[in-house]
Amino acid sequence: MRSPAVAVLVAAGLVAAMATVGCGDDTAARTAPSTPAATEAPGLQALAAPHGVRMGTAVRANVLAADPGYGRTIAAQYGIVTPENDLKFAPTEPQRGRFDFAAADAVVAFAERHGLAVRGHTLVWHRQLPAWLTEGRFDARETRAVLRAHIAAVVGRYRGRIAQWDVVNEAVDEDGRLRDNLWLRVLGPGYIGDAFQAARAADPEARLFLNEFAIEAPGPKADATVALVARLRAEGVPIDGVGFQAHATPGAPSGEALAGQLRRVGRLGLETAVTEADVRLDVPATPAALARQANTYRQLLEACLREPSCHTFATWGFTDAWSWIAKTFPGQGAALPFDERYRPKPAQRAMAAALRARR
Ligand code: G3I
Repeated sequence: MRSPAVAVLVAAGLVAAMATVGCGDDTAARTAPSTPAATEAPGLQALAAPHGVRMGTAVRANVLAADPGYGRTIAAQYGIVTPENDLKFAPTEPQRGRFDFAAADAVVAFAERHGLAVRGHTLVWHRQLPAWLTEGRFDARETRAVLRAHIAAVVGRYRGRIAQWDVVNEAVDEDGRLRDNLWLRVLGPGYIGDAFQAARAADPEARLFLNEFAIEAPGPKADATVALVARLRAEGVPIDGVGFQAHATPGAPSGEALAGQLRRVGRLGLETAVTEADVRLDVPATPAALARQANTYRQLLEACLREPSCHTFATWGFTDAWSWIAKTFPGQGAALPFDERYRPKPAQRAMAAALRARR
């Protein structure tokens, strides 16, 4: 049980999060429900526990603060949460050396209240960087100092409380080269190893991941990512795993393709995790499309269940009320396992069935 003082702090954190985080930027539905139907037992996490897999979802601090039903559904269904935006560079270090952890603190406190683990996302990326950094024209020495100080502060704050970190996100390009981003341009390829070293120093217990999209099927990007992590391992860089984002469409990637790529990484002695799965559809979604979506979710989850390296299966949000898809892919949406009113869709039932079948 938490002490009343801690409860007050938690409540204050939630209020602060509401004040500092704007409401949904890229939502499909702006009227969130307050009485969800999705809390019936057993939730996905209860079904997944015997497999040694954590079921996860991305979470938004602003929605958590505004809608109790959102948090209730997460607590009933999931075992690990990833702040969708609240731990990224710009929100956490809006001015150089001045950190804002209100929103991230609220998510971590929520997770701890409900016994959920947390994935930290993300320390080094080319997006959601603050203007003071992108426009700062810092040289290599100063950029390296910025990177190290940021990681030390953010990872250090949650030392022992965040189980997995996406240390480096989306470092590889479609053609298999390292992505041309600020970090590579100023620091060269060594920025990746440097970031992992800084994260390990700040929290020796956290599992450290390289997180990437479009590596769930064979191709130059998947090959380059596997080669990169093999090289990092050989150089003694403290990397523990590879996150497969798995932003999907019905049937693509196939479960077989994903299992093959998870296996390649597992053979290197690394962990794997499915970190941001969603399966976008044309909207409004037809019953047939929802059935194809359910089958895709089932296949992706089964791929994780049968690969011993895969211990986490997380979707990028859980409800169609709050998803990045509609803004990025006009005319598409309905990508998540619960509908806009937090009712389970065929996708949620298909994942529950997959978890039951493999007991
Ligand atoms: O926080 C500001 C707010 O202050 C401002 O008023 C508002 C105005 O638009 O913008 C808010 O920032 C938005 C942010 O989400 C927080 O809501 C950004 O505009 C918006 O671009 C941002 O989108 C996020 C996107 O990453 C940024 O690249 C999505 O929600 C998030 O789902 C998405 O997540 C990424 C993963 O991190 C990495 N993998 C791909 C995935 C999908 O793109």
